Order: sequence, then structure tokens, then C-alpha cells
Amino acid sequence: MPWTKDRLESVVRERLDGLKVVVVANREPYVHTYDGDAIRCLRPASGLTTALDPVMRVCGGTWVAHGSGNADQAVVDERDRVAVPPECPSYTLRRVWLTKAEEQGYYYGFANEALWPLCHIAYTRPKFDRADWVQYVEVNRKFADAVLDEVGDEPALVFIQDYHFAMLPRMLKNARDDLVVAQFWHIPWPNRETFRVCPWQDEILDGLLGNDLLAFHIQYHCNNFLNTVDRSLESKVDMEHFSVTRGGRTTLVRPHPISIAPELVAAALPADVAPEAMRFRRRLRLGSVPLLIGVDRVDYTKGIPERFAAVDRLLTLYPELRGTFTFVQVGAPSRVHIPAYRHLNEDIARQVDEINWRHGQLTWRPIVLLNEHFDAGQVALLYRIAAGCVVSSLHDGMNLVAKEFIAARDDCLGTLVLSPFTGAARELTDAILVNPYAVDEFAEALRLALTMPPEEQERRMRRMRAQIADNNIYRWAGMLLSEAGKLAGARQPVGEPV
Ligand code: F6P
Repeated sequence: MPWTKDRLESVVRERLDGLKVVVVANREPYVHTYDGDAIRCLRPASGLTTALDPVMRVCGGTWVAHGSGNADQAVVDERDRVAVPPECPSYTLRRVWLTKAEEQGYYYGFANEALWPLCHIAYTRPKFDRADWVQYVEVNRKFADAVLDEVGDEPALVFIQDYHFAMLPRMLKNARDDLVVAQFWHIPWPNRETFRVCPWQDEILDGLLGNDLLAFHIQYHCNNFLNTVDRSLESKVDMEHFSVTRGGRTTLVRPHPISIAPELVAAALPADVAPEAMRFRRRLRLGSVPLLIGVDRVDYTKGIPERFAAVDRLLTLYPELRGTFTFVQVGAPSRVHIPAYRHLNEDIARQVDEINWRHGQLTWRPIVLLNEHFDAGQVALLYRIAAGCVVSSLHDGMNLVAKEFIAARDDCLGTLVLSPFTGAARELTDAILVNPYAVDEFAEALRLALTMPPEEQERRMRRMRAQIADNNIYRWAGMLLSEAGKLAGARQPVGEPV
């Protein structure tokens, strides 16, 4: 039976047995900002929020997040809550306010300058700063207070997202041992040798072992986590059942590959693609050449310079390809207060300029860089009209752009060039898999993406579409929440819920 919204809804009803669901994520699913005197509600460029919003629409409950929009305070009630989505409210968003110093130390500092590079191993050195660490712990405490206020005395399942909250599970358990606490770590977990350079590794591991269930995208990251604990903390690690027992409490460690709601991507497509495509091409002076595309936050883990180097190599090896295609890169600005991200933006702009100068002709530019935020409709259109989509992460927990691209291809055409260092590569084996560090192979993969016969494209695309139709976000949430529900004592047999 396929996983749908309705099936998830019945799983939540039956398996969670009345438990209140509280999701905690740093990023909020809806941001309110001023536009002159008017207030606009935007959706951030985040795979996490895009994936979880449809789940929360089904589950109801509360999403606790950092209120980051400049009009966020203007729309909340006296308990800092607002009902979302604005067009058909179905769950509550509880906003937590952070001072500038807290945001700097917790989000930019410890989460994104220490844990992010540490876990991704993309050759950007992690920065460990005690003041950042202190803010990180304090902000975790602030979120714990908000969660405890939301749950009151009720039984609840707290579902924590990501590396911003390594200390939160233990804090919650210390306050309310009866809460079911589960966490999904959206980024990779490195091997123990890599992780042990973190000065607060024991505190982080102990914090995470406050969870009843800790999930990663793939088994490999679960194994890395278990090995890290085994060789660092006093605990009993069970490699057969994938669990850790410490201080008499057990944490299950499980793989749950995240996904998307394919029908929502398809729904974002324009009713009539051709005229919209024409308008888009005209605006950017793209002519009618085939497009290769990239859609990313500008992040050093995404392998953006590597993909441009491959375009450069392709045009050097095959000068006859000049003028025959264009690479359109949408690069949503991200974490720009961090020096490594600022430098990356500058490096990319310089690189594009050099490549366009080297190979460009009259009005044709090999690379069009759009350093801006595209909304869901614009991204879906781009996916739908591309000859190929390039996902070249140097390391990525999953990568949902790869899955969204497939969801948008209701014509069953287009090629996906995919890094084997993404979680998605484990599932999307019909993509053109290529190591982004290997520039010659990468250039050949781009050539293949541009020249693959339509029948072959269709064969691969059909299989990949079937893959994401089966393994969608409702399945991810249904499996994960049922597993958590079982821990809460819901009396269900083991196995896939019906
Ligand atoms: O990939 C990890 C992640 O936290 C995602 O879950 C999220 O979509 C993305 O990074 C966005 O990051 P930020 O919230 O820092 O903009």
C-alpha cells in the first residue's frame, strides 16, 4: 500500500495514541517579514522545513523554532504562537527569540562553524570556540524551556531536528523522564577519528544519548555514531541491535532516509510549462539551448566550484560544445556572516567570470549564476525544463534537490548527475554517479547528461520516479513516528505499519 497523507494520518492516530507531537527545529517553516508597512509570509530555502511541513500539516501539534523574521514578533499571540500555514492553519508555530549574541554563538558559531564542518569532512576546518559552545548550551536550554512549556503535564513525543540541538535531548529527559524523545540528525556523522577533535565530544554524545531514538539517513552514519560512542563514553554499545545503554537508559540508533512529498513538487509546476519556460529563457537571454542546472544554498559542502571546474574542463576538451548549452546555477545565499561562506561566494563569482570570459561567445555565456532565492514555483519550472540537474556535493546527508528534480519530471525526461557522497546516491542508482573531485570524469558525466538518448533517459527516470513515489516523506515520518510510538508503549507489532 503506498504511503500517502491519509495513511500517515491514521498511523499518527493509531500509533501515537493521543501523544502530543512537538517538533523542534532551528529553522521555522514560515517567516514573517515587513514589506513596507505590509507583512509577508515567506518559506525559507531549507530542505528540512520543506520536508517537515507536510508532515506537521498531517500530525498537527506544535513546531518550536527560532523566530528569525523581522515581523515575526508582530504576528504571534502572548505565548509567542502563530497558527500555520497561513492559508489553512493546521498546526502551531511557537517562536523562540534569540539575542544577536545567542544567534552568533549558537547558530553561526558552534552549530555552523564547528559541528557543520566537523560532520561533513569537506576540508573546511572546524572552529571550536568556548564562548560559542557556552551560547550553544544556553540556547539548547532556552529551547528546552519552550518545549516543556508547550507540553505542560501532558504525555508527548518530542521530535528534535538536527545538529543545532545535541544537548536538548538530555535536558528534556532530566526534566521529564516520561517524555518520548526522538531526534533526526540531518547531516552525516563522521568516523570517530574525525569526531574526537571536538573538545566537547563527551558532552555532545551524552546529550544525544538522552534520546530514546536517534536516527540518521543511512546505516553508515549510524555505525559511525555507535563506534564513536563505543570508543569514547562509558556505555554498552550493542552492534547487533544498534543501541546504546548508558546509566540504565537505552537509545536506539536507526537509519531513516528522508524524502519529499513528490505531489507537492508537481503541484508547484505551472499549468502550462511552455509559455513560462519561454518567459524565463527570455529574461535570462538563454536562447533555446539545452540547460544544465544546479539548485543549492551556497555552501562549501555542495561542490559548486567543482561543478564549474567540470564545465570549464568540458569546454576545453570539447570546444565544439561552446554555444550549445548553458549551465544555470541558482545559489540561494546562506550563512553569509561566516567568513568561509563569504569567501565561497566571492570565489564562485570570480570563477564564473573567468570561465565565461574564457569560453563565452558574443551573447552566449556558459554559466549563468543567479545569486538569489527562487520560490517553489520557479524552482519546479527550472527542474522541469532542464536537460540535466547536477548535484555534486562533496558530502551530504541526503540531498533533497536530487529527489525534487525527479518529482518535477512528469515528462519522464532529463538526466540527474549525482555525487556518490550524498545519501541520495544510495537510492537513486539510475543517476549518472560521478565523483565531484575527479574533474575529467565529471566533465564526461556532463557530456553524457547532455547527450543521453531520450529512451535511456526515460528508462532511468521512470525507475527513479517509482523509487521516490514509494519512499516519500510520508513513509519517512510514518516509520519514524511509529518506531517512537512503540517506545511510548503503544502496543504495536514490529514491522511496517499498515
Ligand atoms: O542539511 C542540514 C540543514 O540543516 C538542513 O536540514 C537544512 O535544510 C539546511 O541545513 C539549511 O540550513 P540553514 O537552516 O542553516 O539555512
